[in-house]
Formats: sequence, C-alpha cells, structure tokens
Amino acid sequence: MIIGVPKEIKNNENRVALTPAGAKELVKRGHIVYIQHTAGDGSGFSDDEYVSAGAQILPTIEDTYAIAEMIMKVKEPIEPEYGLIKEDQLLFTYFHFASHEPLTKAMIDSKSVCLAYETVEAPDRSLPLLVPMSEVAGRMSVQKGANYLEKPLKGRGILLGGVPGVLPAKVLILGGGVVGTQAAWMAAGLGADVTIMDVSLPRMRYLEDVMPANVNTMMSNEYNIRDMIKDADLIIGAVLIPGAKAPHLITRDMLKDMKPGTVLVDVAVDQGGCIETCKPTTHENPTFIIDDVVHYCVANMPGAVPYTSTLALTNATLPYAIQLADKGWKQACNDNENLKPGLNIIQGEIVYKAVADAFDLPFALVDKYLMDLD
Ligand SMILES: NC(=O)c1ccc[n+]([C@@H]2O[C@H](COP(=O)([O-])OP(=O)(O)OC[C@H]3O[C@@H](n4cnc5c(N)ncnc54)[C@H](O)[C@@H]3O)[C@@H](O)[C@H]2O)c1
Repeated sequence: MIIGVPKEIKNNENRVALTPAGAKELVKRGHIVYIQHTAGDGSGFSDDEYVSAGAQILPTIEDTYAIAEMIMKVKEPIEPEYGLIKEDQLLFTYFHFASHEPLTKAMIDSKSVCLAYETVEAPDRSLPLLVPMSEVAGRMSVQKGANYLEKPLKGRGILLGGVPGVLPAKVLILGGGVVGTQAAWMAAGLGADVTIMDVSLPRMRYLEDVMPANVNTMMSNEYNIRDMIKDADLIIGAVLIPGAKAPHLITRDMLKDMKPGTVLVDVAVDQGGCIETCKPTTHENPTFIIDDVVHYCVANMPGAVPYTSTLALTNATLPYAIQLADKGWKQACNDNENLKPGLNIIQGEIVYKAVADAFDLPFALVDKYLMDLD
C-alpha cells in the first residue's frame, strides 16, 4: 500500500503520525511510505531519519495527499486539507466528528474512508487509541501542578514531597481512571500525600491493591469533596462520564473554602471540565486565578511534549496501521473487532451512529461495506 504522512498544520500541533521506527516496519512489509518534508521536525525526527528507515520524502502536502492510498495523521484535517482528500482514500487519524459539523460534511463530500482513532474500541469498551494521551496528560498534570505550586507562579509555595521534618503536600485526584491513575503514580513517587476519589468501588479496590502506601481512595460525593478541598494543595480533575459533559464536582462557591495558592489542574476540561470555574486555556497562557486559586486548564496537554506523545500515540496506532496496510481497510476491519467501530464515514455515508445523530444526518450500517469483500 502507498502510505502518506503529511505534516500537521493545525495551530501548535507538533506531533507526527508515524516515527522512523514505524516507517521501517511498514517498509519491511513491502509498503511504500511517503513523509512530507519536515513532518517529523516538531517531534524531533529529521527527514534523514525517515530516509534511513526506507521512507521517501515529498516536498509538499499536496504531493503527499495526491499519491497516498492511506493517509496517516494525528489531528483531524482542517479546511485547507479538505480539497486534497481523494475519493476512496483511507484516512486514519483523530476526527472527533460529533463536535464538528463542517468537517463531517467535508468528509462526506470527499467520498473518502474515515477511520477515527477515538472510536477504535476494545470489547471491554476501552478506547486503545485514546489511552496513550490520557497517560501523558495524567503524568503531566502532576508535573504542572508541582510547578504552579511554587510561590513565583502564585502557588502556595509548597514542595510536593516535603523534606525530612516537613509534611508533604496533599494531592486530591477526582476520578481514578487512566488520567487519575497516572497522576497518582507521579504524585506518590514525588512523596505527596495522595487521595483518589471515584464513584466506582471495583476501581477503588483495584487502586488500593496496586498503589503505594501514600495513596488512599475515597468515595466521590459532595460531602467528601467539600471536606477534602479544605486541606488539598493540588487538585486534579480527571473525571469522565463517557459521551457526556463532565459533572461539576467543584463549584464556584467551594473556592472560598480552599487555601490561597491551591492549584487546580482540570484535565477533564476537554469534556467541559469537572471544576465549574475552569475554562479552556492554551500552552501560551495556561493559567488564571480566581479567589487566589490557580487554575490550569489546558485542553491539549500532550501537545507540550510532542516527542513523548508521538511515541506513545504511534506505539498504539502502528499495529492497526500495519493491518490496514497489509489487508486493506475492508478485510482489516472485518478481521479485527477493535478496528471496525473506528469506521465513521465510508464513501459519502456516515456509518457511526453517534455522528449521524449529532447532526441529524442519514446513517448506514457498516456491515453493508464489510460484507462486500473481494
Ligand atoms: N486536557 C487534556 O489534554 C486531556 C488529555 C487526555 C485526556 N483528557 C481528559 O481527561 C478526562 C479523563 O480521562 P480518562 O482517560 O482518565 O477517563 P477514564 O474513563 O479512564 O476515567 C474516568 C474516571 O472518572 C470516574 N468518575 C465518573 N464519575 C465520577 C465522579 N462523579 N466522581 C469521581 N470520579 C468519577 C470513573 O469511574 C472513571 O474511573 C477525560 O475528560 C479526557 O477527555 C484530557
């Protein structure tokens, strides 16, 4: 198969969809890999490294789209790319269609095949191509929180781990899923006194089994949250209710009960945030202060660490990309039950119900296409 990897053109997006190591794996299997000139630069991979791995470099984004049977990307195509997409071309990337009507309509019009990372789904309902970014954001949330707790950045001026003779900081994590668990590991490793709140008892039983002694769990409810925020130095929002807006577990009136210089990192801000006063911020201007409480609410945290994020993402996407390249999308999606729900739009028809419902557009069953095998 001919695979094309364009350079991401979305503002501040430095990730790339394929590493030189990934390119080598595909080339080894007889596929042809084209990388757009400087596509890997933002993640620290030079054109030369791709060439050494057996890929070929193309000068422009137009060349890359024109030649490829499968386009591998990180973010959804943006407007300047719409016209470059060809009929029957397979696009393997994050799309998040349900929040973007113009993109959905443009992809319908393109008659391409859109396989979305975010809806590739394992039988246990986990989302294997979203997990890596949650892992990055979870670990980063503690790094950021520790930083903003420093006095010059308007924090309380407390060191997460304390020192001999001085108690460590208290870290409260709302939600013990992927983000919350990774945050807990990092905070615990730095010596903080960590509490994870969740509503799932099985999840908290698991966390109690695997976490070190400085991590405790507690049922998430308003009473407990109001009690815990009084002493917390760093609060991390990591709640997710699939398909819904995050609930506001910390409301505006609760800020007055917190210590001045408390830091809030609301990782769930991309789903509306679980802290009422959090509004999305950017890496250029990541924080704001309300009632002496520092709010960090960057909606694309992994974007600040493109090297790690690219490797984490491609570790997860490459096995699927290999199947798609080896077998073609129809056979690969027929054979792999994780890949099948990734199909969102096929040759002008929406085949993912939530996307059709979001815009009241017609919906076709994906099996119609998959049974049509050569
Ligand atoms: N800002 C970013 O850059 C970034 C990056 C990655 C992920 N995220 C977001 O982080 C959030 C968490 O993602 P995840 O992968 O950890 O999700 P997850 O599904 O693995 O975990 C969510 C957890 O929240 C718990 N929960 C649900 N309701 C709760 C409540 N009322 N109180 C306490 N816990 C509750 C669930 O039981 C679950 O354990 C999502 O909104 C995700 O989109 C943001």
